[in-house]
Amino acid sequence: MNDQYRTPYYSGLLAYIAKHRASFHMPGHKRGRGIHPDFKAFLGENVFLLDLTEVQGVDYLHKPTGILREAMDLLADAYGAKESFFLVNGSTVGNEAALMTVGGPGKKILIARNSHRSVVGGLILNGSIPVYLPVNVDPELGITTSVSPEVLKEYLEKNDVDGVFLTNPNYYGISGNISELVDIVHEHNLPIIVDEAHGAHFHFHQALPLSAVDAGADIVVESTHKTLSSMTQSSWMHINGNRIDEDLLKASLRTLQSSSPNYVLLASLDVARMQMATEGSQLLSAALEVAQYLRTSINAIPGLQCFGRERIGRYGIFDVDLTKITINVLGLGLTGYKVEQLLNDELGVEVELSDPNNILAFVTIGDDYDNADKLIKAMKSLSENYYGKLQPLETAAVHTFPELPDVVLTPREAFFGEKKTVAFKDSVGAVSAESVVLYPPGIPIIAPGERITEESYEYIIKRKEEGAEVQGTADPELEFIEILK
Ligand SMILES: Cc1ncc(COP(=O)(O)O)c(C=O)c1O
Repeated sequence: MNDQYRTPYYSGLLAYIAKHRASFHMPGHKRGRGIHPDFKAFLGENVFLLDLTEVQGVDYLHKPTGILREAMDLLADAYGAKESFFLVNGSTVGNEAALMTVGGPGKKILIARNSHRSVVGGLILNGSIPVYLPVNVDPELGITTSVSPEVLKEYLEKNDVDGVFLTNPNYYGISGNISELVDIVHEHNLPIIVDEAHGAHFHFHQALPLSAVDAGADIVVESTHKTLSSMTQSSWMHINGNRIDEDLLKASLRTLQSSSPNYVLLASLDVARMQMATEGSQLLSAALEVAQYLRTSINAIPGLQCFGRERIGRYGIFDVDLTKITINVLGLGLTGYKVEQLLNDELGVEVELSDPNNILAFVTIGDDYDNADKLIKAMKSLSENYYGKLQPLETAAVHTFPELPDVVLTPREAFFGEKKTVAFKDSVGAVSAESVVLYPPGIPIIAPGERITEESYEYIIKRKEEGAEVQGTADPELEFIEILK
């Protein structure tokens, strides 16, 4: 039998549970007996039986030598990676640990400006100096796409850096030329970390963009809970080649991850790997068919547009993950935010996110035609109610960044520096002590240590007025901001 059908970790836990021993250890609910009956009535008993802790026989995440070791080795084999790691704090902890490994106090890291806010966390932890890379923008979609190989080359020639951090694909499934980008970094004999949070499924289907693991990136972080079937907060990461200090990476993961990792999450990773390695290609083919049905149906509805591979070759779009359904709604005369709200409040449909121009729907191996029909029906009803009645809206530039920031201090120096709170409107010219993140898609517009400019201030205010959510600041409304004294 192909080893990939095995689930050594999950099966090992089941065997352990079957032994029915008297437990005098954590977790305090003692195999569910102490759980409140209402909660247990809803969740059932088994989830609590599986909620074990690190006891003899079920291995240790921080020192895997038994069933977890086997499970992670099978994961590495499934991706063709040198070594793979299960994560219990999402890709957030993967990005942070990767940056602690490649960076360090005084080191410089080239970072794509469209990176997720967890990268700021990694920079606070590692004390490195970020040098930001500009990212291409698709002006018609109003979103950032990928870093150009030429720009990466130029930045690597101009800056003496210790490593590179890229995000690929973006939230909307747009992928850059990851193979060329990895090769360019390796020509400089530097390590490259790729945040592939939205691409854990790429490796398992030929019609999907190339995975950074297959492109040979040194560290690749993937949110399995976003595009595969593992549970929320579970993720994994892979390493390749010899440019990474593996001991430092393991020490970073030991430092950042809980000493009591959740075994239900870990078991869900083992099973998700087995599922993808044994039937991923068929499952993803089915998901791609549903996505294509959705895309074609949406494109036939007046006022709506859903891009596909025809955009390849423009504005840094090298490939497109067709399971991501970005619906441009401006033709209805409504913003994406408004459409998301109508879908939620009146039409019983929830999407992944909205921005001023678009709503984004994810199709995964958990979808079927029935689910797709619900979105199509809802979008038809919106088109009937709004198309032709309102003036179509102009494209708003959303995840485009005001400019590359003036990095005055490292994020770490700013984070631990002496701070004071001022009104955001009075902060222009000051050095920020916190991150200002706009969601969607969770990218910092200002990171700690950067000078707040008139342009970034105006940009944030405009996006906030349009309906973007501000994250990362002590004041959730961003009336006030912490700056360095
Ligand atoms: C590009 C990107 N990287 C990293 C993350 C963090 O992943 P997680 O939620 O698994 O911690 C996200 C989350 O949305 C993301 O979009």
